[in-house]
Amino acid sequence: MYELFNIKDKVIVITGGTGVLGASMVEYLAAHGAKVAVLARNKEKGDALIESVRSKDVDAIFLQTEVTDEAVLKQNAEDIFSKYGKIDVLINGAGGNMPGATIGPTSSIFDLKMDDFRKVVDLNLMGTVVPTVVFAEYMVNAKKGNIINISSASALRPLTRVAGYGTAKAAVTNFTKYMAGEMAIKYGESFRVNAICPGFFITEQNRTLLTNPDGSYTDRGNTIIAHTPFRRFGEPEELLGTLHYLVSDASKFVTGSVAIVDGGFDAFSI
Ligand SMILES: NC(=O)c1ccc[n+]([C@@H]2O[C@H](COP(=O)([O-])OP(=O)(O)OC[C@H]3O[C@@H](n4cnc5c(N)ncnc54)[C@H](O)[C@@H]3O)[C@@H](O)[C@H]2O)c1
Repeated sequence: MYELFNIKDKVIVITGGTGVLGASMVEYLAAHGAKVAVLARNKEKGDALIESVRSKDVDAIFLQTEVTDEAVLKQNAEDIFSKYGKIDVLINGAGGNMPGATIGPTSSIFDLKMDDFRKVVDLNLMGTVVPTVVFAEYMVNAKKGNIINISSASALRPLTRVAGYGTAKAAVTNFTKYMAGEMAIKYGESFRVNAICPGFFITEQNRTLLTNPDGSYTDRGNTIIAHTPFRRFGEPEELLGTLHYLVSDASKFVTGSVAIVDGGFDAFSI
């Protein structure tokens, strides 16, 4: 019988796979039979994650990377291909923010640190573009490929403060749609490019922005909750259904889409 959601033995590469959202994706995909290649910077974190995944008798490997460095990524891709013989899916999960690229309530746009803004654009945008191009080449050779980017609520409507991050994520959304057209027109319908657009999930990159040391929410955290019809932050596992759908043949006719998972944040005004 044709199983729409079967992802067994798919080789799935995920950048930023040791992060809070990434690690939850890695555990889930491996538990469903995928062979997961985790790409991130921190070897200790990576090794610990792989050990935890393998203890459940499923397959995963860790490779150290830098998502803006083409040469490193090319070596990663070669290593993954020589181990598994194919690369089915790329999830561009690496991303993050930097204080100098944000504008706090007591500062203005004239306090913007240009170098930090550039770094945030580099990580979030180029850190998606470069792996996409490197891994897409393997997919084109195999005549089949699937790329999933991680955008953000800040891409859809600008949020206060996160100037650099929002700009970069808006570009990630645009690039997702561009690549969907580019790949399908030139290489056919076996190439899909989509994005997941998470709302607000408390992770390492935003913990201090959203929570106080005692665990209560900051003013910004409370404002976000007030603008979210579900009245809460998301849990990492609440992205997994959407991820599974996009990774699998259940979304065979879906490309260039941006799947919003945000408890209603984007749909709501007052
Ligand atoms: N947490 C949220 O509310 C939220 C909302 C929308 C989008 N996102 C996006 O989801 C993705 C995962 O974020 P998270 O919240 O789990 O954050 P996180 O900080 O827990 O994880 C980020 C991951 O990216 C990796 N990374 C950072 N810079 C890198 C680089 N130069 N090269 C390679 N890897 C690098 C880190 O090592 C880490 O594994 C990011 O793209 C983030 O922008 C998060």
